[in-house]
Amino acid sequence: MTVSSAPRGVRVHAPAKLNLLLHVLARETSGYHGLETLFLRLALGDHVTIRTDGHERELAVSGPAMPPGGLGAPEANLAWRAAERFADATGWPDGFAITIDKHIPVGGGLGGGSTDAAAVLRGLNAIAPTPLGADRLLALAGELGADVPFLVSDHLLAWGWGRGDRLLGLPPLPPMAVTLVTFAEGVNTGAAFGALATIREQRAARQRGAQDTGEPGTAHPAAAPGAKSYVATAFSSWLDVMFASANDFETVAPLLHTGVGRWLPLVRAEAARLRATGVAAIGLMSGSGATCAVIHPAGTVTDLEPPVPGSGTALLPTTTAAAIVAPEPIL
Ligand code: C5P
Repeated sequence: MTVSSAPRGVRVHAPAKLNLLLHVLARETSGYHGLETLFLRLALGDHVTIRTDGHERELAVSGPAMPPGGLGAPEANLAWRAAERFADATGWPDGFAITIDKHIPVGGGLGGGSTDAAAVLRGLNAIAPTPLGADRLLALAGELGADVPFLVSDHLLAWGWGRGDRLLGLPPLPPMAVTLVTFAEGVNTGAAFGALATIREQRAARQRGAQDTGEPGTAHPAAAPGAKSYVATAFSSWLDVMFASANDFETVAPLLHTGVGRWLPLVRAEAARLRATGVAAIGLMSGSGATCAVIHPAGTVTDLEPPVPGSGTALLPTTTAAAIVAPEPIL
């Protein structure tokens, strides 16, 4: 009998992300909008294990952030689809058994589903008999979703554009504490883009002096805000980020989600209170919502009042990610 030295699987840390800045640009002919965003990796993450020594295809999810209603069909899970795509692209593996220990709140702008998919790609590529080059892996990630390329990359901080698939890694910033306000429900991404387009169309109609009927998009395409240009050194300090930080979805998410409506003003006020003590602090919402956050220096604490236990809203302390954690083969 021969004993194979090939790993039987791999364990991967799958970090959450925050968007420190998010501009929604014009709607493209594909129907999708171009984005400009500043991605940040967090220490908070899921634990993903992929076994490749069987012939079945399986996925099991558990853990503290597992929603009571489950996560739907395994085949529809982005992590499953990532493994399938990897197998299609490389001819390996035949079977995969993915287990996800979920710590990132689901559907909340923290990239939870995307990071599990990115972890599957990173993990499989780390132990594959014929691994893909970095460019192929990024392209595969881009086909799975806007946040997956950043989370597959080796960047702690990156400027993203296009659909979030074009990336420029930036030098990491000093560590900070991050206090997340998480909700049981996210904001529906399509509804958030739709609401933003409607508001912009109405604003453009008013600016043209036309009668504002409230009818979205009948005659004019969604107006994109003036594109800003940034240079690679634009985000060299937390002070730079603090002045640039803005998320276009913050105009619509409070209308779509009562939790954001209540907590976004609170995290902003808390950041302002901390800034008044002479430190850098940012209050924001991530992605298209709903998670809100205060970013503040390590060693400082927020005065945010803890939500009622069982209300679905929770304060979750974490920090910025200190390093990229390499996949760990299971021998
Ligand atoms: O990426 P996802 O499928 O979750 O997006 C849901 C919807 O949000 C899309 O169908 C599209 O209407 C909108 N969207 C967009 N531009 C993007 C991402 C999503 O218009 N860059």
